[in-house]
Amino acid sequence: MTRQLARPVGITATGQCYPERRVTNDDLSKVMETSDEWIRSRTGIGSRHWVEKGVGASDLAVPALQMALDQRGMKPGELEAIIVATVTPDTMFPATACRVQDAIGAKNAFGFDLSAACSGFLYALTTGAALIASGAYSKVAVVGVDVMSSIMNMEDRATCVLFGDGAGAVILEPVPEGLGLIDFEHRVDGSGGCILHMPAGGSKKPASHATVEAKEHFIHQSGSEVFKFAVREMAEGSRAMLDRNGFLPSDLKLFVPHQANMRIMDAAAKRLELPSDRMVVNIDRYANTTAATIPTALHQAKEAGRMEKGDLVLLSAFGAGLTWGTVLLRWAY
Ligand code: UT7
Repeated sequence: MTRQLARPVGITATGQCYPERRVTNDDLSKVMETSDEWIRSRTGIGSRHWVEKGVGASDLAVPALQMALDQRGMKPGELEAIIVATVTPDTMFPATACRVQDAIGAKNAFGFDLSAACSGFLYALTTGAALIASGAYSKVAVVGVDVMSSIMNMEDRATCVLFGDGAGAVILEPVPEGLGLIDFEHRVDGSGGCILHMPAGGSKKPASHATVEAKEHFIHQSGSEVFKFAVREMAEGSRAMLDRNGFLPSDLKLFVPHQANMRIMDAAAKRLELPSDRMVVNIDRYANTTAATIPTALHQAKEAGRMEKGDLVLLSAFGAGLTWGTVLLRWAY
């Protein structure tokens, strides 16, 4: 079974924003027990960008969305919906989408945040596309943004070296037949929630002195468990998506995986028998920016002239939840 939209919807513009402050592996090795050699060989990460204190998700989301609007020649007032995928919202409420709407001047849009961690952008992409396919909307913005530095325990060297801050944005619109989203699949397995989570700060365990002292407002991760799940689902999900649509890996112009670990991405590409030059990589410069990895990678691939209108592109993500998803599309411009 494939999942098809009632009318074709595609990405018609992209944008991105990273904070200026670049932190290299060598910078980290001066403040914790780690090394460039360990981080590069275990993850493929060379550097990441972190915000200055006081900068929130909306501060990165707004310039990323503005870049996409400028690229499309669209005014903020034309947008009808803004979906922000994030696990590091400015505040628990109001939603970061509301701040983005106000700051960018999208007077005619409604908006909401979507929480699916590293799969968030793909969930938001297909949610936005479904709004358009319903016939009720025609101009939707989707932003993937995370300020991971705000929830990292700098005393946990196995986790804090992995993440970066950033935002990627896309505009979705109706596109001609034969372009845009072809098929998608999303899954959740809540039984694996405890291998990647933030234990406190929600209604189950509200913030208290005790939760702060126990460092329960940071990312807690069982790295090797996440690693095994990621390799399996990224490869199997990608292969199944191609199979059920009658494509071979060699038909792909680009494979855009979530950027969590170069070894996970290489393993997925190897199982797909995909030539390495078809994979988009930005983890080396930006690390794992959670919901922002895929939209920023798309923006960078388009800017570098690596895809044209009609090219077949496969997007694949996994993350906390556990969540995972795959989207197959034909690039629309
Ligand atoms: O978006 C989804 C988010 N998360 C992921 O995708 C994470 C998936 N998992 C991973 O990427 C990997 O499991 C890690 C990169 C997190 C860890 O790599 P690993 O090869 O699984 O290493 P490990 O956890 O088995 O640790 C190996 C050693 C340990 O030392 P001992 O016990 O062997 O003496 C760690 O203490 O490496 C040590 N280590 C470090 N050494 C230097 C852990 N972190 C560091 C570090 N620098 N930053």
